[in-house]
Amino acid sequence: MNDSNKNTSYIRCRDLTKVYQKGKITVTPLEDLDLDVRRGEFLALMGPSGSGKTTLLNLIAGIDRPTSGTLHIGGEEIGSFSRGQLTNWRAKHCGYVFQLYHLVPILSAYENVELPLLLDGTLSRRDRKEKVLAALDLVSLSDRADHRPTELSGGQEQRVAIARAIVADPGLIVADEPTGDLDRESGDQILELLRELSGIHQKTIVMVTHDARAAEAAERTLHLDKGRLVEKGLASTSTESVATS
Ligand SMILES: Nc1ncnc2c1ncn2[C@@H]1O[C@H](COP(=O)(O)OP(=O)(O)OP(=O)(O)O)[C@@H](O)[C@H]1O
Ligand SMILES: [Mg+2]
Repeated sequence: MNDSNKNTSYIRCRDLTKVYQKGKITVTPLEDLDLDVRRGEFLALMGPSGSGKTTLLNLIAGIDRPTSGTLHIGGEEIGSFSRGQLTNWRAKHCGYVFQLYHLVPILSAYENVELPLLLDGTLSRRDRKEKVLAALDLVSLSDRADHRPTELSGGQEQRVAIARAIVADPGLIVADEPTGDLDRESGDQILELLRELSGIHQKTIVMVTHDARAAEAAERTLHLDKGRLVEKGLASTSTESVATS
């Protein structure tokens, strides 16, 4: 990184483009996207279905790789990492929260939260326990450690998923419609938790949401349309808005 943004941007995308080629069909869910996100910022991403929100999250989370352009996170150009490097980077730096929680049904809340630490493989059982209990405490679920997902409410399941996302102490949390399946009260608890993680714990959070009310919990909202960031109010309302050729 060699410009003035290097000290302020935790996430920095330039001309970020993702192209999928399926047979003769080319889909370009993201095109020449520039984005800067501060360390510790809570950013909401909105936009019509198919506008590229999940595609962008997956690039930022190191789950997928850009076709072209640059993607720096915490000063590292993860856009040029190999798949193996990305897997290692992700384990240390990024927690992912999904709309439908994606907990492992046969594991307890404790065991679900412990999973990323087991995959990392470097910590002793005692050190893992300390971190898992701290993460469960942070989401106010210490008393549910032995419960399986079916024995928890949706809101509690999402809080376990957040504990799992933060247990390895990543700097970045990405969340794809984390309140999309919850009632208002449970959703508000999740949003409050995300605000706390950004405000108190200085996690950088990028949250996709379809709910303008949820976006209000964030410090800033950006709108995607046809794979590009647009000024608020200019986003189209079409349900299929991807450039295809
Ligand atoms: N792996 C893939 N292969 C081919 N096309 C893909 C792939 N992933 C996504 N797309 C296409 O890219 C476009 C953007 O998808 P994306 O999932 O990013 O949209 P989204 O904004 O998250 O939509 P939604 O609000 O419905 O979740 C869609 O047209 C989708 O079909
Ligand atoms: Mg999506």
